[in-house]
Amino acid sequence: MKRDFISILDFEKELEETIDVAINIKAKIKSGGEFQPLKGKHLGMIFEKPSLRTRVSFEIGFSHLGGTALYLAPNEIQVGKRESVHDVAKVISRYVDIIMYRAFSNKVMVELAQHADVPVINGLDDLEHPCQIMADLMTVKEHLHKLEGLKLTYLGDGNNVCNSLLLGCATVGMNMTVGCPSSYEPESGILQKAKDIATKKGMVIEVIDDPIKAVKDADVVYTDTWVSMGDEAELEQRKRVFPPFQVNADLASHANPNHIFLHCLPAHRNDEVTDEVLDGEHSKVFDQAENRMWAQMAVMLKLLAPKSVDTRVERIE
Ligand code: CP
Ligand code: NVA
Repeated sequence: MKRDFISILDFEKELEETIDVAINIKAKIKSGGEFQPLKGKHLGMIFEKPSLRTRVSFEIGFSHLGGTALYLAPNEIQVGKRESVHDVAKVISRYVDIIMYRAFSNKVMVELAQHADVPVINGLDDLEHPCQIMADLMTVKEHLHKLEGLKLTYLGDGNNVCNSLLLGCATVGMNMTVGCPSSYEPESGILQKAKDIATKKGMVIEVIDDPIKAVKDADVVYTDTWVSMGDEAELEQRKRVFPPFQVNADLASHANPNHIFLHCLPAHRNDEVTDEVLDGEHSKVFDQAENRMWAQMAVMLKLLAPKSVDTRVERIE
């Protein structure tokens, strides 16, 4: 049976283990080691929205593993418009071994995965961005040397990145506080699910509208754009509501003095985050961007493993 990576919860049982595989692959390849278990495999990448990190990290990451990647630009396939979602899924499955899809709609994402005969990875939709969160948690583990018990504060829009962070933090036993205006809260079903998982582990997930309280003692401070792709019509309204949630040096001073700052990027400098924070000593955003590649390589290995490839990576201390 093929497996997909549509929600971060699809890796609920092996989230931290996958992060450890990613850390190992990174160490191995950076030290000059050969690791090409996906030789002869093909990745199809369908994009309905623009991208820098997702496009480049998937393409280069897959080629590090020995495979080849095909980029399909917005307007090329037109999933569900030029051809039904079902037929696109069936046809592309005949050519490639694995699909990465960046979509407007989570509904279409799920439908494509249902009909595809090969694994489908969510490269962002309107509900989740699971690859991002795999890289984010990897970056936290690299810099703070653990995950369990830490507090991550997310400030701004309760969007796709925030939704996946809630599920990811809960799964690895981190506390998470979302500081956001009341009408921009994360998706309610996801929030409840994250709370249920966190409660079982003795951790706290909360959403509050006070940015200073939210950021208090945070080990990780995280923000994302106030206007996600697809929300452009609300730009003016959003620019009025979100400024109190801007991550600036003043707000960040309430966090743990050893905190790290993360942003999935692209950043809108001096909107959701100031230059001094983005370029400051706490910021790990470029390590985070790099880790997209290593984290996704670990995910692709896990998804393709049951077929025939040997995905073992010896630990490099
Ligand atoms: N963070 C992220 O997904 O970036 P791109 O939109 O450039 O892929
Ligand atoms: N929330 C943003 C993330 C971009 C990587 C968006 O969906 O546009």
